Amino acid sequence: MSLRHFLTLADLTADELERLLRRAAELKAAHYNGALHEPLRGRVLGMIFEKSSTRTRVSFEAGMAQLGGSAIFLSPADSQLGRGEPIEDTARVLSGMVDAVMIRTFGHENVQRFADVASVPVINGLTDAHHPCQLLADLMTWQSHRREITGRTVAWMGDGNNMCRSWMQAAELMGFDLRIGCPHGYAPDDLDAYPRSRHETDPGRAAAGADLIVTDVWASMGMEDEETARRAAFAPYQVTGTIMAAAGPDALFMHCLPAHRGEEVAAEVIDGPQSVVWEEAENRLHAQKALLEWLITESLAPDEPPRGD
Ligand code: CP
Ligand code: NVA
Repeated sequence: MSLRHFLTLADLTADELERLLRRAAELKAAHYNGALHEPLRGRVLGMIFEKSSTRTRVSFEAGMAQLGGSAIFLSPADSQLGRGEPIEDTARVLSGMVDAVMIRTFGHENVQRFADVASVPVINGLTDAHHPCQLLADLMTWQSHRREITGRTVAWMGDGNNMCRSWMQAAELMGFDLRIGCPHGYAPDDLDAYPRSRHETDPGRAAAGADLIVTDVWASMGMEDEETARRAAFAPYQVTGTIMAAAGPDALFMHCLPAHRGEEVAAEVIDGPQSVVWEEAENRLHAQKALLEWLITESLAPDEPPRGD
């Protein structure tokens, strides 16, 4: 396989996505059985974080350790990126030292620029526009409870943000419908490019009969100065018991976390019986292990000339 990156969910074919999800479930079962599986012994993941993280950092770092490798954490505060070293120069240097790079940053063009010159796989650990790793975990979690998602209806409630766009891409790949319950002015601006996604301003209608309700914070990282205005605009879109009742008793609830109880979700929902958020968070580990194993071992496949030659 030639060098592959994972910058958005659309970097995968539907078949590749299905295979990754199956592999993630296998790796989870093996981990629970205590089996050692170390295909990445001696391999190193570089992790650049320009925004905060709990789940992404720990799941990638633990995942590399469990696969026999290791990870290096870099932040702007203690790397030359923070002092203005160009992204492209950083990409070339890291490509000579590590086997893959994960980046969490602001503008999506930053990961694209990095990947354009990197000679190792680059993984998007969240940008302002996409959060594809979270979707691997979310789809894995759905499958463990309800199997196929094809033909189902998912209701996204709240901001048309990076997570929402990754759900839009998942809908195209996996063949389900996405209703985006969101006020005017906050729907994704590229909605027209995603025929399976529909904007619905009435929260009850967005949720009606949905198989899965998903939400996220109303003000993403980098939008802290909009918090007050957003709290007012999104208040009718809080996922409450009433919204879950509109969806139905079999509907599941997901949230990528961190959550704000009493804002985008009521405590009775996130801590209630339809919520699968803890499994969803744990599945970041297993899904990303499948991703790392695939991207790193395939980029080192024997038909590829060794790096540096
Ligand atoms: N869901 C998620 O990406 O969490 P962190 O911001 O803690 O990494
Ligand atoms: N939309 C959120 C997701 C956090 C994991 C953000 O970008 O802050």
